[in-house]
Amino acid sequence: MEILIQPSAASATQLAAEMIAQTLRANPRAVLGLATGHTLEPVYARLAQMHQKLLLDFSGCRTFNLDEYIGLPAADPNSYRSYMNLHLFEKVNIARHNTHLPDGMATHLDAACADYEGRIARIGGIELQLLGIGLNGHIGFNEPPSRSDSRTHVEELSPETIRHNAPQFASPARVPRRAITMGIGTILDSHRCLLLATGAEKADIVAQAVEGPLTGQIPASALQTHFNCTVILDSAAAARVEAQVQTVIS
Ligand code: GLP
Repeated sequence: MEILIQPSAASATQLAAEMIAQTLRANPRAVLGLATGHTLEPVYARLAQMHQKLLLDFSGCRTFNLDEYIGLPAADPNSYRSYMNLHLFEKVNIARHNTHLPDGMATHLDAACADYEGRIARIGGIELQLLGIGLNGHIGFNEPPSRSDSRTHVEELSPETIRHNAPQFASPARVPRRAITMGIGTILDSHRCLLLATGAEKADIVAQAVEGPLTGQIPASALQTHFNCTVILDSAAAARVEAQVQTVIS
């Protein structure tokens, strides 16, 4: 696991966006795994800027998002489809048919999960999987306790995650209780993982994820077993990471 610590959230964001852009420049048909959450909003803003100012080309790229709420139509402002449209897809030249999210409105949810796995496999797997981290260590919506070999599945959201995600909704009661998420095994199959965490709120969970024991109680700790995983942190999120593994790039 490579851990890159940046002095500020802005420079951590910039580095993450640059790595995604490099992947796209090297392979314009790259398959990108995307994630949602506040942490990633400035990354998408930077990518949109790179598209406008530097002509970063998304026309050949294919994307698969980690997760989607169950029971929210795509047009609901809180669906992850709406999030992606707002923050990235409407701002770059990506073809909408090349963007994939799990179908949280499917009648047969298990079939929708299997279909998502099949689509990822048929396209040849994910080249770069972008990740945020939840306060309880979840990646995607893999809540503790998680299994390191899980595939795309239906997950019950934890009370902590519901609380954390509630401010976007009219009331906490409106937060969906379930989501479809890629499994930890699905995420670990990606050729490269890139986890971004910023802010002091994430310092404890980041240290447990990158230096603590491998445990389903901290789903993100499974990333320690990935052969090509980069973790980008700002100094606040890195505050509890042991000094010897810190690399400062300015
Ligand atoms: C949601 C998403 C996760 C994301 C997490 C952290 O729960 N399903 O993929 O990592 O939020 O979000 P934030 O960046 O807002 O802290």
